[in-house]
Amino acid sequence: MKDFQGKIAFITGGANGAGFGQAQVFGEAGCRIVIADIRQDAIDRALAELRGRGIEAHGIQLDITDREAYARAADEVERVFGGPPQLLFNTAGVNSFGPAEASTYDDYDWLLGVNLGGVVNGMVTFVPRMIRANQGGYIVTTSSVGGFQGSAAASIYSAAKAAVINLMESYRMALEKYGIGVSVLCPANIRSNIAEATKVRPAHLKNTGYLENEDTIASLHSIHRHGMDPIVLAQHVKEGIEAEQLYIIPYPEVREHLQKHFDDILNSIPPIESDPEGVKERTEALQNWARERTKMFSQGREQEKA
Ligand code: NAI
Repeated sequence: MKDFQGKIAFITGGANGAGFGQAQVFGEAGCRIVIADIRQDAIDRALAELRGRGIEAHGIQLDITDREAYARAADEVERVFGGPPQLLFNTAGVNSFGPAEASTYDDYDWLLGVNLGGVVNGMVTFVPRMIRANQGGYIVTTSSVGGFQGSAAASIYSAAKAAVINLMESYRMALEKYGIGVSVLCPANIRSNIAEATKVRPAHLKNTGYLENEDTIASLHSIHRHGMDPIVLAQHVKEGIEAEQLYIIPYPEVREHLQKHFDDILNSIPPIESDPEGVKERTEALQNWARERTKMFSQGREQEKA
């Protein structure tokens, strides 16, 4: 996608950090912006700033883990702007750090619920609407460089972000035929408000196994203060959309580490020569199954339509 003029952009987490950067950059590029965020005060501030710059913007207070509220938000977009978004940014996210072995069910339910469940809800809510609107479009989901590798201190966050990368790879293949592009943004450090994430943790999921207090918040701020400017990051996102890049990872400092990580994975695979007959048999079986499955699925769809 290269022309953003008049397009509706729905941005979760659009009131702060990376999402607000996207709201500004895509608003300046001509999009009509919907900011969906759990924090009403931050939405109000963001809208005032966007509108002050002549950007058409609408705010919706939304907890992305609430599926019914998500559907109502999608209806509201259609009422206000006359149709579903052509651009969906699944950007909202939360983090919390602590030893994997201390994790509680509440830690799992909150961190997976927002970082993975919120993205799932965005896709299930909007993808069918975007397909029905038949205007093509683009989806950018924010994962993290942390999604490429596990972490003893951010285990749940990393697992959610890994799932999100994988999911976007799948959706990219699935949605190509509808003219809907998909990218996954994997940032390292962003100058954002994520240090405060614990403040939007819902009361019924408060039982954490990690240490969370004003000192840990201050220590996180001391890292994120040095992060990439959200506007600069959003400009990279825009270039990534224009180039239809699957992965948007505008952080040169992570290359060496990821290289080593992927080398470790690849080096654990024996060469084909170690089992040529087995490789041939397994590969053919899989290819035949995939062909049959695709045929069955499209025949099933034809029968449903008839
Ligand atoms: P941020 O905290 O500045 O912005 C996130 C926004 O999401 C906030 O406005 C918050 O109110 C909103 N939010 C939180 N829970 C929500 C919910 N349940 N429903 C709706 N909105 C909710 O944080 P930041 O850093 O801009 O985060 C954006 C994305 O970037 C997240 O997905 C995060 O995981 C990811 N990321 C951040 C990095 C960083 O260094 N800050 C690094 C890598 C990835």
